[in-house]
Amino acid sequence: MVVLVLYQLASGWLMSRYPVGGSKLATYELHSELGLSILLLAILRFAWRLFVPNPINDAQAPEWQQTASHLTQYLFYGLFAMLPLSGWAMWSAIQPVEPLRIGGVIAIPPMPFHTLSPAWQFQVLDWAESLHVLGVVGLSLLVPLHVGAALKHHFWDRDDVVRGILPEIRDDETAPDHTQYTPRVG
Ligand code: HEM
Ligand code: HEM
Repeated sequence: MVVLVLYQLASGWLMSRYPVGGSKLATYELHSELGLSILLLAILRFAWRLFVPNPINDAQAPEWQQTASHLTQYLFYGLFAMLPLSGWAMWSAIQPVEPLRIGGVIAIPPMPFHTLSPAWQFQVLDWAESLHVLGVVGLSLLVPLHVGAALKHHFWDRDDVVRGILPEIRDDETAPDHTQYTPRVG
């Protein structure tokens, strides 16, 4: 998700500055389809988080830092919903609406704005664009704060907060050592 989110920030910024043409449209389409994949992944991730809590760590952080970290994580989830939904609204208010497919397979219908008058479609586009840009600004401020805090935990405080999000590697001494080969005699 980190790679997808960073790609979205870069491609969104670039595509708004491309001259009108084929590559602008193709980038819009990829940006929109990957953005909707982020929405799907965020829902799955949120459902997973309801059952599996965050990894336990040995950070000795003061209360305000714990609050700041939780607030950042909630805001990330909010942005994972707000950015794709506002993008989807924008996509649906631009005529003619082209179909979008997540991963080239799952077809996503446009939001039902085609029944509105052209003036209202422009209004929806305008609101959705403002929300999208607000989300972009929020994400661009939160990501460096979040990554900076993670790096501080790792290199300054030297606790296991960053190691906690990596897949668990067993270091159980009693586990059988499959790296040793003992030839059978006889
Ligand atoms: C986490 C997901 C997303 C992120 C981080 C993101 C990020 C961005 C960024 C950085 C821009 C450029 C803003 C600017 O400089 O004006 C942008 C524009 C845009 N995005 Fe997204 N986006 C996401 C999801 C989506 C989705 C799902 C869609 C459509 C289904 C979409 C449609 C658009 C459109 C149409 C624009 C162009 C707006 C304009 O021309 O002003 N985005 N996005
Ligand atoms: C686009 C960039 C990033 C976003 C949007 C992001 C988002 C998130 C979210 C939503 C969580 C909440 C936990 C969860 O739901 O699984 C989280 C946790 C975490 N992230 Fe990130 N993250 C980003 C980049 C990074 C990077 C680059 C690092 C490491 C250098 C990092 C380190 C962590 C750590 C250590 C936690 C766990 C904190 C805890 O246990 O309380 N994140 N991140």
